[in-house]
Amino acid sequence: MPFLPTDSVALSSGIQMPVIANGSWAPPTGNARAEVKDWTLTALKAGYRHIDTALGYGTEKSVGLAVKESGLKREDVFITTKLPYTDHSRVQDSFNESLTNLGVDYIDLYLVHWPQCVDLEADGTIKVTSGLTFVEVWAEIEKIYEGKKAKAVGVSNFSIKNLEILLKSAKVVPAVNQVELHPYLAQNELRQYCKDKGIVIEAYTPSGYSKVRNDPVIDKIAQKHKVTPNQIILAWHLFRETVIVPKSANEERQRENLNLLVLSDEEVEQIDALDRGERICNKPNEHGLVWGWTMEQLGW
Ligand SMILES: NC(=O)c1ccc[n+]([C@@H]2O[C@H](COP(=O)([O-])OP(=O)(O)OC[C@H]3O[C@@H](n4cnc5c(N)ncnc54)[C@H](OP(=O)(O)O)[C@@H]3O)[C@@H](O)[C@H]2O)c1
Repeated sequence: MPFLPTDSVALSSGIQMPVIANGSWAPPTGNARAEVKDWTLTALKAGYRHIDTALGYGTEKSVGLAVKESGLKREDVFITTKLPYTDHSRVQDSFNESLTNLGVDYIDLYLVHWPQCVDLEADGTIKVTSGLTFVEVWAEIEKIYEGKKAKAVGVSNFSIKNLEILLKSAKVVPAVNQVELHPYLAQNELRQYCKDKGIVIEAYTPSGYSKVRNDPVIDKIAQKHKVTPNQIILAWHLFRETVIVPKSANEERQRENLNLLVLSDEEVEQIDALDRGERICNKPNEHGLVWGWTMEQLGW
């Protein structure tokens, strides 16, 4: 059954997660991160009940302020945040920092942002640290879950290869795996694997940006229905029962991204055929590395 925009999905921990979150990444320039408060507030007013942030985005404080100003009860807003790859050796402290930034006493979903553990040099260069594995990090995450300060715990950017390693020793199966996923990167194998393991897959960069929005197949379907290409792409995700994290800082587009039709089987098949395994958001740099790890290490 296709998801409807107002649906929630049950996580293995027993809680319900709204299937559409508004993202909150913003660049570290000017006032951009502080402005997240205003557009998270418009998102909450438009009806979003799930906000995705991360300690690494520097937007947790803005999200926390928006939730407070919205007047909504804490339990009515689902908050996802993430452990940065620079904090793998201080998981408990990093988690507490997120609670303080957000001004809350629990997190709905806490994710390990990346499998790799890195240090940042003074000039911002990434240096991979070999000391700590994600298996050890996950054992710390399990303690947070047992302490009930996170209602669900999960991972992000994990491949089948790394999930296999994790699941060998995990006491708690990750509830969610948040990965890049859009029509040019349909992640079909990973989706099936996660489904089989009871892990909910969640799509970041769900639109694939203007590259996918401008695809003639998407455009044609959008014109037929008199909606925007973004709405068609998001509708495709919901048809495939994928939780999505679109981001818009614009009130009109935020509303647009909640107003999604149900596509036909034929339209979905046409969009399925666009898959070409292309990463658009997090792709390897000139040395073949994504935040310090090779594609082989990432299992991508
Ligand atoms: N786990 C991870 O490693 C990871 C990585 C990347 C992202 N994320 C999360 O996922 C969120 C979304 O990711 P993303 O920003 O890469 O993906 P996205 O939602 O696919 O793309 C956002 C871009 O699309 C534009 N947009 C949004 N709605 C639109 C519409 N209806 N029509 C036309 N353009 C539209 C936005 O501009 P406007 O804002 O101006 O509308 C923005 O430029 C992030 O904010 C973050 O929370 C997680």
